[in-house]
Amino acid sequence: MARSFASAMGCDFAEMDVTLPEKRESAPLFGVDDVVFFGVPTYIGRVPNLIRPFFVSIKGGGALGIPVVTYGNRAYDDALVELRDIMEENGFKTVAAAAFPAEHSFSTTLAGGRPNEKDLQLAKDFARKIAEIITNNPHSICGDHTPVAVPGNPAPYSYYKAVISDNKSIDIRKVKPMTDPEKCTKCGLCALLCPMGSINISDPSITNGICIKCGACIKKCPRGAKSITDPDYLEHKRLLEEEYGNVIKKAELFYTT
Ligand SMILES: Cc1cc2nc3c(=O)[nH]c(=O)nc-3n(C[C@H](O)[C@H](O)[C@H](O)COP(=O)(O)O)c2cc1C
Repeated sequence: MARSFASAMGCDFAEMDVTLPEKRESAPLFGVDDVVFFGVPTYIGRVPNLIRPFFVSIKGGGALGIPVVTYGNRAYDDALVELRDIMEENGFKTVAAAAFPAEHSFSTTLAGGRPNEKDLQLAKDFARKIAEIITNNPHSICGDHTPVAVPGNPAPYSYYKAVISDNKSIDIRKVKPMTDPEKCTKCGLCALLCPMGSINISDPSITNGICIKCGACIKKCPRGAKSITDPDYLEHKRLLEEEYGNVIKKAELFYTT
């Protein structure tokens, strides 16, 4: 998306993937000549709380900003408005925003295969339209600024409350993946992929730190050795798949007026 934008504008492009902890050690600095896309997944209806402080530490210095969230076919609730507000409060001027369905971390059927070709084309069109808006309206964008309008409740934002049978709320914060010793070859891939750096590389059956349930270790293990067996997690996943598994959600794009 940002690459398509840069090619439409004929400007330089740099990408920072901050999934891994070492990439979040220092915050980049931006200024008035920059256009910055922030992309985060929706976690329980909001910007993931563990990555929030990193995004809050990034100063815009008058750069234009484009908040983008992904979500796993249920809803993005307040995540997009929260990300927009983080950018605005830190000196970015938001001019566009988007929400894209993306395969849910818990599942392969919730938004399975998304983003697909159509989503990627939409992302490119989105980027080109932003380039057009900026090129055609430099004065209105740089003068009186109104943050891009997006759906969601203003602060304090709401967390989505997951419930299972008998209206029981679930709390899966302490749930961690299990490792099948018969399948695990201790290759260490899961430890290298863990966004929290929580898996022990010499013995991947040990998860010492926080698990955010991103599913990277489960989905990417070449031997299928990792799984989450917690009954509340599995029931929540089952209910989500039942309710949202066959729904086709469309990407939503928003532009400054
Ligand atoms: C802890 C957690 C909470 C999530 N909460 C939501 C949610 O509230 N709504 C939703 O549609 N998807 C939710 N998801 C799915 C993610 O938003 C989806 O997997 C993500 O956007 C995909 O991006 P990624 O591949 O970068 O993780 C959640 C995922 C996790 C791990």
